Amino acid sequence: MENKTVLITGASKGIGKDIARKFSDNGWNLLINYRSDIDEGKYIRDLDIDQSKIGFFKGDISKADQVEKMFTEAINKFKKIDVLVNNAGITLDSLAIRMTEEDFKKVLDVNVNGVFYCMKEAAKHMMKNRSGSIVSISSIVGLHGNIGQINYAASKGAIISMNKTLALELAPRNIRCNCVAPGFIKTDMTEKIKDKYKEEIINKIPMKAFGNPEDVANLVYFLGSDESTYISGQVISVDGGMSI
Ligand SMILES: NC(=O)c1ccc[n+]([C@@H]2O[C@H](COP(=O)([O-])OP(=O)(O)OC[C@H]3O[C@@H](n4cnc5c(N)ncnc54)[C@H](O)[C@@H]3O)[C@@H](O)[C@H]2O)c1
Repeated sequence: MENKTVLITGASKGIGKDIARKFSDNGWNLLINYRSDIDEGKYIRDLDIDQSKIGFFKGDISKADQVEKMFTEAINKFKKIDVLVNNAGITLDSLAIRMTEEDFKKVLDVNVNGVFYCMKEAAKHMMKNRSGSIVSISSIVGLHGNIGQINYAASKGAIISMNKTLALELAPRNIRCNCVAPGFIKTDMTEKIKDKYKEEIINKIPMKAFGNPEDVANLVYFLGSDESTYISGQVISVDGGMSI
């Protein structure tokens, strides 16, 4: 069993919670970031994890001061962060001509600025340790665009280029950075999509189904673990073949 530590942003539910479960099942310590409320007891029971192996950190990643505080407290808890998973993200969809400046900025605040603040704090810490892995959740939308998601597409594309830049800067310190680009995964985020549109999407997926959060979690775990020590700067899709 591993005795390593992972910090996962936005891990209260959805893909983030399944990523937490995957690392926990492999013996890792968990640092769970959440934005609003979380029932810690239920979370611990759901993951069947020993209380001593988990810490919860409330914080809005779009606020640099909250991210700094979260990293200080998180590092204090287990002394070391081996892996950061930039999972937290939001959507505020609208056609480009109707998109408000406010909604455009809100999505970039979380999905770009928030990821940058976390990358920066993790990089400072990992550089001292001369090891680490940063896995950031982008999206198929960041690679190919999507109607109604000009803000989200911009943000997820930015994550890919930030990931490549960071991978170059940190490689000499033995720190790897990779992106996962999920297609359509069954979570609250895709639950919002109208049934009619869901059918249209499924028709475009070669595997004819939405993915499950654990499909993403398995790849994130691989990229975080020592199974992938010579992989850096990559973007790997988990999309049922949608991007072929
Ligand atoms: N579900 C999909 O089909 C899909 C596809 C591609 C990419 N993604 C990406 O995967 C990640 C997880 O998405 P999900 O589907 O589990 O969505 P979700 O809405 O179920 O979960 C998102 C999580 O992020 C947290 N969060 C949002 N803003 C935050 C902030 N400012 N600070 C801290 N936490 C914050 C939320 O509280 C929530 O826990 C996101 O980055 C999303 O863009 C999802």
